[in-house]
Amino acid sequence: MKTLSLSTTSFFLLFFIFLTLFCPPSTGESQSICRGSVCYRNEPVIRFPFRIPTQQLAPCGYAGFEVSCNVTNQTLFRLPNSGYFSIQGIDYGEQEIWINDPDNCLPRRILSLNLSGSSFTAVYYQEFSFFRCSSSNYIKYGLNPVACLSSPNYTVFATSSYKVVEDLTGSCELMAVVPVPVQWPFFEQVLSSDLSDDLRLTWATPRCGRCESRGGKCGLKVNSSTEVECRNVPQHGIPRAARYAITFGVGVPGLMLIMGLICCVCGRVKSFTIRPDHQVAELASSTITSQANAVSGLDGATIESYPKVVLGESRRLPKPDDATCAICLSEYQPKETIKTIPECNHGFHAECIDQWLELNGSCPICRNSLERPMGTMDAV
Ligand SMILES: *[C@@H]1O[C@H](CO)[C@@H](O)[C@H](O)[C@H]1NC(C)=O
Ligand SMILES: *[C@@H]1O[C@H](CO)[C@@H](O)[C@H](O)[C@H]1NC(C)=O
Ligand SMILES: *[C@@H]1O[C@H](CO)[C@@H](O)[C@H](O)[C@H]1NC(C)=O
Ligand SMILES: *[C@@H]1O[C@H](CO)[C@@H](O)[C@H](O)[C@H]1NC(C)=O
Ligand SMILES: *[C@@H]1O[C@H](CO)[C@@H](O)[C@H](O)[C@H]1NC(C)=O
Repeated sequence: MKTLSLSTTSFFLLFFIFLTLFCPPSTGESQSICRGSVCYRNEPVIRFPFRIPTQQLAPCGYAGFEVSCNVTNQTLFRLPNSGYFSIQGIDYGEQEIWINDPDNCLPRRILSLNLSGSSFTAVYYQEFSFFRCSSSNYIKYGLNPVACLSSPNYTVFATSSYKVVEDLTGSCELMAVVPVPVQWPFFEQVLSSDLSDDLRLTWATPRCGRCESRGGKCGLKVNSSTEVECRNVPQHGIPRAARYAITFGVGVPGLMLIMGLICCVCGRVKSFTIRPDHQVAELASSTITSQANAVSGLDGATIESYPKVVLGESRRLPKPDDATCAICLSEYQPKETIKTIPECNHGFHAECIDQWLELNGSCPICRNSLERPMGTMDAV
């Protein structure tokens, strides 16, 4: 193990020396005057196709992607038929945006959300029914109220479960049935939600995702307000032959080393499942409990059915996850493939959770059993 990490370190050292020698710093200045901007620290970086008109020139953005900064320093953006939303994150490579209500009552905005006339559509929709109940009794049955729509006289619930709809129909007033642009597709029906999680939207035009993924700089063509072009794709720094040399001389052994490391890590995780270690005591104990009731893991088709997503630059994950994979105990990096378990809304490195699920039929974090009867999948 020690020799391996030593050789890895020296390998990466050599690799970086090599890169610094052969890659000249990119020359952004000469190409364009457009630069990213922010409303405030920690707020999302705004660049093409988005633009803050008070800070960036007109050719630096695309029509319909204008963003403003509120006095509260929030990054705001207006949907033509639905008013202002705060931008929580932008993934330029995947062409996705996460928005919320600047006044902290997203459900109210969802009730009047109308994306027509905007450049945006939902990535996933899930239909929710809103009920207004004169009794708050349902909280006792585990239903989560929409607090900001409720009053002392009534309680509002939002559900996507046919069962709960059936239960509430008759005793409560149905307010509306609306499609909600959720962040992740849920296979299971959601019994109740306060719908405070960001909405996830995507845009089709302008198409800058490919350019962004290649590290290029997307922008409007000279004298055009609709045609875009990709500039500064980093490749001219290294001659073609040298790139092949790097790919085969460095990339392939590097890949093998990385795969070796992954195997090492996953091997360690496997051994934890048998012999608990204090470092992952919680994880290990969940394994033991789940092993007690279900020794076998899931079948390949079920494992394959869980939604995968390649992380973009913003590394945005479904809540309530943090930035670390609970199985590999390593942070997510852009371009890594994450697999989510909709039953508990947790995400993991795809290769780690696949191995886990082959051995365990439960979510490593919340221990929910994942054996689900067929035919309960919601259309998404
Ligand atoms: C900007 O902030 C002020 C003060 O919080 C708020 O009253 C106003 O509604 C905000 N503007 C928008 C468009 O949300
Ligand atoms: C907004 O930004 C200004 C500086 O740009 C700062 O002084 C102020 O405290 C910020 N306000 C909030 C609510 O964060
Ligand atoms: C959304 O807005 C458009 C234009 O104002 C309107 O024609 C359409 O009926 C609205 N859709 C809904 C579902 O309200
Ligand atoms: C709530 O109910 C009380 C008494 O039942 C009534 O006086 C009050 O006007 C109601 N409030 C609202 C907002 O409906
Ligand atoms: C852009 O438009 C200006 C003024 O209309 C013109 O002088 C210039 O040649 C145009 N440039 C290109 C690249 O078409």
